[in-house]
Amino acid sequence: MAHSPTAGARGGWVVILGVETSCDDTCAAIVTEAGEVRSNVVSSQGLVHAPFGGVVPEVASRHHLELIDAVIADALARAGVSLDDVEHVAVTRGPGLIGALLVGLSAAKALAAARELPLTPVDHLHGHVLASTLGDPAMADPQDSPRTAIEPPYLVLVASGGHTFLARVDDPASYTVLGQTLDDAAGEAFDKGARLLGLGYPGGPELDHLARTGDPEAFAFPRSAPGEGLDFSFSGLKTALLYRLRDEHRSAPVLADLAASYQRAIVEALTHRVEQALEREGLERLALGGGVAANSELRACARAMGAAVWIPPMDLCTDNAAMIAGAARFLAPVAYPGYLGLDAAARLV
Ligand code: KG4
Ligand code: ZN
Repeated sequence: MAHSPTAGARGGWVVILGVETSCDDTCAAIVTEAGEVRSNVVSSQGLVHAPFGGVVPEVASRHHLELIDAVIADALARAGVSLDDVEHVAVTRGPGLIGALLVGLSAAKALAAARELPLTPVDHLHGHVLASTLGDPAMADPQDSPRTAIEPPYLVLVASGGHTFLARVDDPASYTVLGQTLDDAAGEAFDKGARLLGLGYPGGPELDHLARTGDPEAFAFPRSAPGEGLDFSFSGLKTALLYRLRDEHRSAPVLADLAASYQRAIVEALTHRVEQALEREGLERLALGGGVAANSELRACARAMGAAVWIPPMDLCTDNAAMIAGAARFLAPVAYPGYLGLDAAARLV
């Protein structure tokens, strides 16, 4: 699919401002209708929530409120545009923390309404699904140049701290969920496992790091593949780790072996379903998204699978507003003033 730039006020490209505040990152981005990311600003609250071992919703909302104006101003400045150049506003409507979502939605509505601009409410997960459609179409090799945009039809694995699902994309305006986690998200499994191993929060990157020095075959952890479909389950895995830790002497090499074996179990559970889905759906292109796409073993396994693989740069895998603005290119905007009564949705159906 070719996305030809629509002539906008900037004489060649329509300026879409994206806003995303569904969890603990305050995000704003400027994206063109051709899918080129002109700026992508993320102010992470990770350090604020780290002492609590997880995101505290009320604290997240307050920080969004303090940061949102500065983050939007920064996104505009980095893209070399002003608010007067913005022609379309896109914002995450849900799913996410309701108080956090409301901050972004209110800011986006206010900016759009002041200029009577169209506003597109975006499903956060749709943003993750379409992250690989952002890119510079002039770049050729999907392996080495992840800025190349993927073309439907494709399979996407979204694995983050809050969500884990496989979806099929035939048309960027929608996606079909093929399977999802029945309990913990893959990122949650990483974070909970890391916590049991005495690592910091968020634990995924630390567990990934420790696993590099361990033996992934040292311990046998369950690979759960529930049912006949393409669903995932990770809750039994952390219980297995808990029991292992009770039995083992916690020396540094043992902890590294446990990390490597635990990571291998998560990665194999994910890649097993991905392989099944590619085959069942007859798809040849695969995109990864969500924070877990940063995992070194998952990236290596996905690349060894035989399908053409798109793994967006990390700033497009983790929560960001560029994917929200990018998704809005394919969705029907709501004209002013139709969106003024629009509410955030903690859960989208
Ligand atoms: O997409 P994301 O930034 O936020 C949402 O949850 O929406 O994903 C964060 C998750 C966390 O659970 C984090 O531990 C995990 O992604 N993560 C990783 C790695 N980097 C981040 N998990 C495994 N290996 C990594 N290298
Ligand atoms: Zn997310």
